[in-house]
Amino acid sequence: PSQLLETDPSIEEAAQLLKDRHVVAFPTETVYGLGADATNEEAVQKIFEAKGRPSDNPLIVHVADIHQVEELTQNIPDRAYRLMEAFWPGPLTLVLESNGSAAKNVTAGLSTIGIRMPDHPLALALLRASGKPLAAPSANRSGRPSPTDAAHVWQDLEGRVAGILDGGATGVGVESTVLDCTSDTPVILRPGGVTKEDLEKILPNVDVDSALKDKQKQPRSPGMKYTHYAPEAPLWLVKGDDEFFNEQLIQLKEEGHRVGVIVSMELAEKLNHDLVSLCGSRDRLNEVAGRLYAALREFKKADVDVILCETFPQTGVGAAIMNRLTKASVNILTQG
Ligand code: TXA
Ligand code: MG
Repeated sequence: PSQLLETDPSIEEAAQLLKDRHVVAFPTETVYGLGADATNEEAVQKIFEAKGRPSDNPLIVHVADIHQVEELTQNIPDRAYRLMEAFWPGPLTLVLESNGSAAKNVTAGLSTIGIRMPDHPLALALLRASGKPLAAPSANRSGRPSPTDAAHVWQDLEGRVAGILDGGATGVGVESTVLDCTSDTPVILRPGGVTKEDLEKILPNVDVDSALKDKQKQPRSPGMKYTHYAPEAPLWLVKGDDEFFNEQLIQLKEEGHRVGVIVSMELAEKLNHDLVSLCGSRDRLNEVAGRLYAALREFKKADVDVILCETFPQTGVGAAIMNRLTKASVNILTQG
């Protein structure tokens, strides 16, 4: 509505826009976030409107220091302090008991609140300049791949935000790990930039949410409606060796499909195909995570009618990569 667009505001201008209850997109080390004052309900409401996000999905609150965590929560367990010490600033969101100080719509009515300290100089500078904790989900239209570049934010939210701080490409590429710290054994609710292996170096027992495990086992049916991280054309995952991938590609082409492929450079070398989006080396999963969302945005509806995507090992950040790819896909082709 009455939002002025600042294409590349200074930190001070962006902080002022936030104080005036506008929404501003900013880079973090994972993906771009769409920020608003987490203590102001009217400001937070604009995040849901700009994204088209359902209001029952709680937002992550970003902080500049541990003092701000203590202002938003109660009964912080010792294990949470140890995790903050080990992984902050960084891609780990801790779910803690809320004390009710955040705006109601941030937590979607829950008694808990997700908080993290981002590891990005612009995000930290903005947090300090605004003096507020900032609620910030990924700065994409709901259902689209998360933005890892200011241009992605622009594609999705032009005219819907008061400003976009441009910090170039983000590094980690997949969102933060969401860890519920309210139970004795912490539970991973969303795999992300800090891996289960990383967490287990600090706390020996870490669980993975059972819903997460079930979903990864379940092959999704072709007709299923996709609503997360969705590219413009339907995404099919290929589980099998390189030869199997090539066979599937050839068959779809023979059937007359225009096929885009998202693959590692190792697989790309074995395919005789033009419409390729490279996501790095399969031996460097961090590189794949960093390129993943840009790759999902690359193919346009006009150019391809199906996208075939390689699958990756579930170790380390591979758990986050496969979690996002499974959600983004409408079909899985599994080798017999
Ligand atoms: O890396 C990230 O986490 C990015 C950057 C911008 O910081 N943010 C992000 O936010 O991914 P969003 O809103 O797209 O994802 C928030 C996730 C959702 O899966 C939500 O369900 C979960 O965090 N979440 C937030 N608060 C929670 C709570 N109190 N309990 C359980 N899950 C919560
Ligand atoms: Mg998101």
